[in-house]
Amino acid sequence: MQSKIFLGTLLFIILFVATGVVLLNEGILPEQQEISGQSGTGTGRMQIEQRAILGGSKEQGALLYLGNCASCHGRSGEGVPGKGPTLNPDLFTIHFVQVQATGGFGGTVKDFIRLTVAAGRPIESAWAIEQGGYPERMPTWGQAYGGPLTAQQVEDIVNFVVGWQADAGAVQAIDFDAAGSDVNKELPAGDAARGEQLFAQQVKQASGSNASCKACHSLQPGEILTGPSLAGVATRAETRVAGETAEQYIRQSIQQPNAFIVPDDPKFKQTNGQSTMPEGLGNLMADQDLADLIAYLLTLK
Ligand code: HEC
Ligand code: HEC
Repeated sequence: MQSKIFLGTLLFIILFVATGVVLLNEGILPEQQEISGQSGTGTGRMQIEQRAILGGSKEQGALLYLGNCASCHGRSGEGVPGKGPTLNPDLFTIHFVQVQATGGFGGTVKDFIRLTVAAGRPIESAWAIEQGGYPERMPTWGQAYGGPLTAQQVEDIVNFVVGWQADAGAVQAIDFDAAGSDVNKELPAGDAARGEQLFAQQVKQASGSNASCKACHSLQPGEILTGPSLAGVATRAETRVAGETAEQYIRQSIQQPNAFIVPDDPKFKQTNGQSTMPEGLGNLMADQDLADLIAYLLTLK
């Protein structure tokens, strides 16, 4: 009698574990492709376990996301006008590409998301202002920064959000020939009218991002934002650097901000002696964008 109970229990346990493993396997199958870059597609126990843990974390993250983030970023990360920016796919295809191109962040996109979610953005970023701004701030979520979520919960949300990158991969980061920092490459003829639209952020650069110029440059004479007003820049560009034409000077200002730093105001320079104007803006624009911006600035006599 006792041995029968024992056998029954044993069978039950075996059945239970077997079903569990099958269910686990089924549950993680769709994940396999998506995260294969991180943990491989092997079927060893470790890999299966890793994927199962990550899968479970993403499920938790999905619930936490719906409860805490969807109101501002949309259920699928599509963004909510006036509340929060599009995360899926713009964060992966446009904004993080821009962040990397301008050397603003050394880590991976996952590090970028983790830091943003944990710390929030209590001060609106220049990038958000360029998008037209949002009345509310991105809240702080990590307990380490005084927010409501544990480090594990933040990690769960990050795993869920970064999962969109696989779909974004299908959209592909926009592929274009960047103007870069080479000031000798021949440019196409510039269109000043389109340059004005680029500056006003009515049309986008080839990278899909807005030209950031107006966040730092006013067009009102004498008004200093972070950089000098660009009113009259075409005239002073003729004499800024001996031997450079106005066109050459303006072009170099955009592609190599540190080649000549405008001396008029101490805050144009960072404490490390570098220009406050970021290097790498040329990586966000095609030759045509650059030519158009130069043509426009040359009209500001
Ligand atoms: C009250 C609205 C609001 C809520 C709720 C909110 N966000 Fe945000 N989020 C924003 C705003 C506004 C920004 C842009 C902030 C900035 O750059 O200054 C932002 C930015 C971000 C970014 C960076 C996007 C980029 O391209 O740089 C990520 C990632 C993000 N939020 C994720 C989340 C997650 C995950 C949650 C939930 C835990 C969440 N947000 C909840 C409003 C919100
Ligand atoms: C983060 C702020 C910032 C952004 C964004 C920025 N600049 Fe600048 N810019 C500056 C600062 C500060 C200076 C002065 C220091 C220097 O010469 O590098 C400057 C200088 C210049 C000058 C030289 C002006 C003069 O009087 O000689 C030009 C031209 C210029 N920027 C064009 C642009 C254009 C075009 C863009 C967009 C593609 C842009 N800037 C984006 C901050 C910025």
